[in-house]
Amino acid sequence: MKTIKDISVMQRLCLDARARGDAIALVPTMGFLHDGHRALLRAGRTRGDILVLSIFVNPAQFGPKEDYASYPRDMERDLKIAEEAGADIVFTPEPSSVYPPGYQTYAEVTELTKGLCGASRPGHFRGVATIVLKLFNIVFPHAAIFGEKDFQQLITIKKMVNDLNLPIEIIGVETAREADGLAMSSRNSHLNPKERLAASSIPRALMAAKKAARNGATAKTIIEKAKKIMEKEPQAVIEYISVCDPVALRELAHVEKTARLLVAVRIGKTRLIDNCLLTAE
Ligand code: PAF
Repeated sequence: MKTIKDISVMQRLCLDARARGDAIALVPTMGFLHDGHRALLRAGRTRGDILVLSIFVNPAQFGPKEDYASYPRDMERDLKIAEEAGADIVFTPEPSSVYPPGYQTYAEVTELTKGLCGASRPGHFRGVATIVLKLFNIVFPHAAIFGEKDFQQLITIKKMVNDLNLPIEIIGVETAREADGLAMSSRNSHLNPKERLAASSIPRALMAAKKAARNGATAKTIIEKAKKIMEKEPQAVIEYISVCDPVALRELAHVEKTARLLVAVRIGKTRLIDNCLLTAE
């Protein structure tokens, strides 16, 4: 496994691989890897002759009051996990080379990013779209793999790829969960034991929502049922909970066939997101 920091070295390596006819699969991450990332790497391994993992805590997707500085980092451990998972190349650029002084070019998916997480994190998806587009222009992947946990991010990236005619297959991988159903996230490491317990109300709320949808409940009732479960936890403050169509992320009043329930919850200082598929039968 090679570890590469330099952008032009990375580009050269990937262009050479493509010229040899190798398929490149990219798993973009911000590191502090967990089983969710392992699942992305497994999916990537089946898609590429060359599996590239990028580890970059992207300052452009954090607001000024957000957790960029305290975002968990452990490069040594990440490199071990990457090697075990069969990554061929780990790309770990420096922020100063990704965004050198005078940097001023950004990518933006305008509509899909207005609501949900976009409403409380202005500029977040612009930062995500920009780094992902930059990674695509550095790694030249045939396929890129993202987790469904960040559902709005996944839909936004798919839209960018489609709108900009990028010849890259975007693959979404099902959310990896802890034994109690909590979605795996690097940010879970910030939770103290009490908060961790409170966080388990999120998957319970999703299960209740799924059941309500199957029983034919309206979006309003589904949301009320899910809310009730999370509101029992004094530590949990719901930022949003929404039933949306899974492509345009428009709010729905009814689940016709399928829909997506998306939630963002603050537990103490930690903001967690999750989502699930709702089906009407
Ligand atoms: O999902 C993440 O870890 C990040 O948002 C991503 C896609 C790596 C971009 O920084």
